[in-house]
Amino acid sequence: MEIEINHYLSRLGIELPQDNRKAVLREIKAWLKPSFEGKGLVKTQEGDYTLLHPLYGEPYHSLSAGAIRECLEKFLFPSGLLEKAKSYKRLRLLDIGFGLGYNVVVAIKKLKDVNPLLEIEILSFEKELPTHIPPMPEEFKEIHKKILEKLPHFEEDGISLKLCLGDARERIREVQSFGAHGVFHDAFSPYRNPELWSIDFLARIKRLMDLKGVWVSYTSSLPVRKALKDMGFKLSTTESVGRKKGGTKAYLVGEDQLTNEEAKKLYTSPYALPFLDPELNREPLYILIDYRIRVELLKMAQGGLEPPTPRFSAGCSTN
Ligand SMILES: C[S@@+](CC[C@H](N)C(=O)[O-])C[C@H]1O[C@@H](n2cnc3c(N)ncnc32)[C@H](O)[C@@H]1O
Repeated sequence: MEIEINHYLSRLGIELPQDNRKAVLREIKAWLKPSFEGKGLVKTQEGDYTLLHPLYGEPYHSLSAGAIRECLEKFLFPSGLLEKAKSYKRLRLLDIGFGLGYNVVVAIKKLKDVNPLLEIEILSFEKELPTHIPPMPEEFKEIHKKILEKLPHFEEDGISLKLCLGDARERIREVQSFGAHGVFHDAFSPYRNPELWSIDFLARIKRLMDLKGVWVSYTSSLPVRKALKDMGFKLSTTESVGRKKGGTKAYLVGEDQLTNEEAKKLYTSPYALPFLDPELNREPLYILIDYRIRVELLKMAQGGLEPPTPRFSAGCSTN
């Protein structure tokens, strides 16, 4: 990792003092440390099941909140789709990180309960499906099974689901328009999966949203919130579920509803800088290194130190 950081700095022509390099290295290592060891099936505190991802070192769902509760309370409820289902004929949902399919299945079941005639169009993105997907609790089991059997394209009873497999950054370029009424942004956590949280990827998503669409996610992390804010979204914090902090809801129509403290952080914290991935093809580690170096330069400037300037001004296209 030290080699990658030094390589990146020399490509940028920045000479960062040793102590600052160490701080960058230390923090990136901490971010990348798995939050859970192991792989396979794991029971949540609510008694339902999810999987642990061996490479990301994270569960697909919150172990403290429970898988289904997270789908409902972090995604479906704050998205406002249940209210729209009462009066809309057709709803479109953009699903980033299909994973085990739990979020979309919970949405389909609950939206159909509200309005059985509702047409639902879902566009999902997923890099790689796990080889074994655990069945969902009884209420969702049947529809979940049917959908998994028909992937990548499920069509039945007014529901259309298309799964785009591969790196979402590439696959999303193929979609010209969608008009999403809701976006469930459920990648792994921003520091471990930064390629799906850059301002450049989020800008692609914004283009696929309806003007009254609502973007929701479990994260309240500063690089993500700052990117959304810079793109003109209004923000609010969603209810906290389990031990996790509240998530984020972003929309184009309406008012900001952050607390003063939350809003202040977006303008004063050195960590409130978006992840950058201009060509949507940077290696995730380099997205992180680039971000953390910019944070360090800002910290130096905020501390009254003269941050080092690049020896040359060419943009760095390191992937
Ligand atoms: C937290 S899990 C999603 C859980 C899912 N929403 C559910 O309800 O079961 C995050 C998902 O993002 C996917 N992912 C990570 N990086 C990706 C990428 N670059 N492109 C597409 N999918 C990606 C992972 O493979 C993983 O399945």
